[in-house]
Amino acid sequence: MSNSDQKDDIFQTGGIFANRELLRVGHVPPLERVIGRDQEVNAVGQALGPATVGGPPETTIIYGKTGTGKSLVARCVSREAHKKADSNSVSFQHAYVDCSDYQTETKASREMARQLATNLDAETDIPRVGIAAADYRDITWDLLADFAVDSLVVILDEIDKLDDNNLLRSLSRACESGKVQAHVSAICISNKIEYRERLNERIDSSLQDNELVFDPYDAKQLRAILDNRTDAFEDGVLDSDVIPKVAALSAKEHGDARKAIDTLYEAGRLAEKEGSDIVSIDHVDDAVTRAEVNRFQKLVSGTTPHVKYILRSLALLTAEYPEQDAFRTHRIYKFYETLAEREGSDPLSEDRVYRLLKEQSFLGVTESNHTGGGQSEGSYLKHRLLRDPEIIVEALDASVTN
Ligand SMILES: Nc1ncnc2c1ncn2[C@@H]1O[C@H](COP(=O)(O)OP(=O)(O)OP(=O)(O)O)[C@@H](O)[C@H]1O
Ligand SMILES: [Mg+2]
Repeated sequence: MSNSDQKDDIFQTGGIFANRELLRVGHVPPLERVIGRDQEVNAVGQALGPATVGGPPETTIIYGKTGTGKSLVARCVSREAHKKADSNSVSFQHAYVDCSDYQTETKASREMARQLATNLDAETDIPRVGIAAADYRDITWDLLADFAVDSLVVILDEIDKLDDNNLLRSLSRACESGKVQAHVSAICISNKIEYRERLNERIDSSLQDNELVFDPYDAKQLRAILDNRTDAFEDGVLDSDVIPKVAALSAKEHGDARKAIDTLYEAGRLAEKEGSDIVSIDHVDDAVTRAEVNRFQKLVSGTTPHVKYILRSLALLTAEYPEQDAFRTHRIYKFYETLAEREGSDPLSEDRVYRLLKEQSFLGVTESNHTGGGQSEGSYLKHRLLRDPEIIVEALDASVTN
């Protein structure tokens, strides 16, 4: 092998993926790849429809749990509206602002102005700092006027992260204020259903008419969504039971399409790393375990070493006595005491461990229940691990070495 071949070799990507972009976060597929959301697509289409013929678009609010296609539908339909308006010789513009990246009113307003300037190929200077939110909005209004834009739709994604509602308020009242000739509206998106009340209190109640709720996907829909992305893989690489398995797992959890796509991608990456020719359900299992380990590792990363010893004690007990469902505080304490001492730490008191165990149940890692211990004993607390003990131990090991 020549030297240059060797160098090429280190970039070998295996024969698993044909187009991995299709499975990447943030990829916005064309509208025809949006599966099973016809009603929602039509509702957003109806809100934006007037703007494609030069009329006023309506402001819409989209709620729904994570991974239910809210961002996707908003972006796809706005893109289609742009195309449709173009074909009618109407100037329609949209800006997408992810408020989790731009959490202050000023930053979000700047991002809106920046995107509009980019889309219009304007050479307007958008200062990074030193001007107020209202100034960025004035820049936006000037751009609309200078380029004779007929309507602007601003997608405010994750709007609950925004520090106040001034931006939304000024978008919904831009026309009334007389500052803007163009029609301006917003698509607000949130996965916090409790945000609804907060918003309704502060903003015009007329918004309630345009509320959309996206439901979680069921296994069949998730399967269709995944089936539609199989061209991310080389032909014949995916075992036939892989997609049904990923879909069933994700439906059981929250009906989250993002998680389903991520799991499929991870399974493919694991197969690729192994040099395997196919992606099998074993790769799916490994991908799920890995994701769980990562999630749990994040959960415990901020906790004290003692909490980690306690969780490890419960995990090791659970692994050692699989027939036993839950363990009494005292039993866990004895295990913990030895473990802490072995690690060179002074063990905490049993009462403190008892309270920490109860606290952990809030993290959703353990569950604590009172059990009647017979008349002489009274009731006592028993603790149960809610996750696979091997996953907990693996994550704890990883969090020690990191
Ligand atoms: N109906 C669908 N058809 C095809 N792909 C979908 C569909 N719904 C969601 N997806 C894909 O699933 C992933 C998550 O979707 P999206 O980002 O729209 O979720 P979301 O509702 O905005 O979630 P979050 O509240 O967490 O932001 C994306 O990769 C998206 O392309
Ligand atoms: Mg989203």
